[in-house]
Amino acid sequence: MHTTSAPPHADDAARSSVGGVTTTGLGKRFGELWALRDLNLAVPQGTVLGLLGHNGAGKTTAIRILTTLSQPTEGTGTVAGFDVVRDAAAVREHIGVASQQATVDGLMSAQLNLTTIGRLHGLSKSAATRRADDLLVQLDLTDFATALVRTYSGGMRRRLDLAASLMGTPEVLFLDEPTTGLDPLSRTHLWDMLSELVRGGTTVILTTQYLEEADRMADDIVVLDHGRTVAHGTPQDLKSRIGDDRLDVKVASADDVARAANVVAPFADRAPALDPERHVITVPIKPGVRVVQVVRALDDAGIDAIDVTRREVTLDDVFVTLTGAKPVDDADEAGRQGQERKS
Ligand SMILES: Nc1ncnc2c1ncn2[C@@H]1O[C@H](COP(=O)(O)OP(=O)(O)OP(=O)(O)O)[C@@H](O)[C@H]1O
Ligand SMILES: [Mg+2]
Repeated sequence: MHTTSAPPHADDAARSSVGGVTTTGLGKRFGELWALRDLNLAVPQGTVLGLLGHNGAGKTTAIRILTTLSQPTEGTGTVAGFDVVRDAAAVREHIGVASQQATVDGLMSAQLNLTTIGRLHGLSKSAATRRADDLLVQLDLTDFATALVRTYSGGMRRRLDLAASLMGTPEVLFLDEPTTGLDPLSRTHLWDMLSELVRGGTTVILTTQYLEEADRMADDIVVLDHGRTVAHGTPQDLKSRIGDDRLDVKVASADDVARAANVVAPFADRAPALDPERHVITVPIKPGVRVVQVVRALDDAGIDAIDVTRREVTLDDVFVTLTGAKPVDDADEAGRQGQERKS
């Protein structure tokens, strides 16, 4: 965990812009592979940037560079006004990080983990204890405060990681998939907590596989695909950029998916996206088309459509349209390890 409090600092004079995050042409190459390429960000203080992308897109690489755990091979970046390469030590003093892997010590209690981190940030013993107790309450861990962390469930550990990243009251908080493995209640709770922090001026960079989370939390979203930025804008921008309402057609048999796609194609202003596993075809519907016309056409073709629904565009559609790959949603999470799904 790399967190520190943000006392007024002697090298504050070296800061270019306080509180936010900027990058220019930031990139990282591993041999032939571009893990991250030409990332350009200007994240104002007190806002949330969501980094989206499927497995291997470059999200963690971006976080690792911005948190000084890894050096860029191209470009530059600043965090809280400090250069991530030249002023790495200063960057570390102004940030909190909850990385994708758990970083707390399993052989200590939650309370001891947090107070130790607080002491490392220069808090007095009583201040560290107070801060740890507050965070244990906020993250609903008080009942387990004195239990050894190795006895924690995955979700509890994740929450403790977050508490640890907040011990130093960071100016910029980096969260790499903060809610993966959290139950829905803990997730909502965490969103509320983050919103509160952001209202207080904290800048948050978060990666997520949950589009609902990005939609709800992020002021600005960057969608990465094979290291490149394929979209950048507010959730609303991204949704309006990919156009009209969507029509979801669910058919009874997997054999009918391709045929149904042909039937709905004339009503769509773009090629349909197929989900053969769920027997669902999704198309952007042309203005003026009525659902009943589509139902009739399917019926005329002898296709058994179980459900035909018109709905507004979601970030999920943005993702499918831009990357050709479907992100993981809650129901799929169990099957997610290392697998990239194409729709
Ligand atoms: N140390 C390394 N050496 C070589 N390749 C690496 C290294 N770290 C990451 N990569 C590669 O860089 C690419 C981006 O990886 P990264 O971890 O940033 O993806 P991610 O978007 O965080 O994915 P996930 O959703 O699975 O966490 C991947 O192809 C990965 O294999
Ligand atoms: Mg990652």
